Amino acid sequence: MNKHKLLGGLLILVVVLVTVWVIGCASNKTLVTEKSGAQLWGENCVRCHNAPSPPAFNDYQWETIAIHMRVRASLTDEEVQKIVEFLKMAN
Ligand code: HEC
Repeated sequence: MNKHKLLGGLLILVVVLVTVWVIGCASNKTLVTEKSGAQLWGENCVRCHNAPSPPAFNDYQWETIAIHMRVRASLTDEEVQKIVEFLKMAN
């Protein structure tokens, strides 16, 4: 068998696998950011304590709480913004 052909085939296989892997990661990321504020709130704010209900605090209080809880919950700015929008809208 031709050694060069075998190597070429292997190279193509590696390139295809890496591409699939990279695209897989990229689409996972969009899935997370597609979540709504309500969903992110329900999934994240119950991990350490009961999720505080939207009327429990006013808009200004939610802004401050978000700064503190963003660090604790390791959320991105975008995720926290969505949660705050939901909490303000529902209070
Ligand atoms: C990693 C754990 C953790 C996560 C996740 C978390 N919190 Fe907290 N939260 C705490 C701790 C600990 C306290 C109490 C101490 C403090 O205020 O720093 C607290 C306190 C609070 C308080 C104050 C309660 C009161 O009655 O004074 C609010 C409101 C709050 N969290 C909202 C949220 C929201 C909204 C989220 C989701 C974005 C969230 N938390 C996610 C750990 C967490």
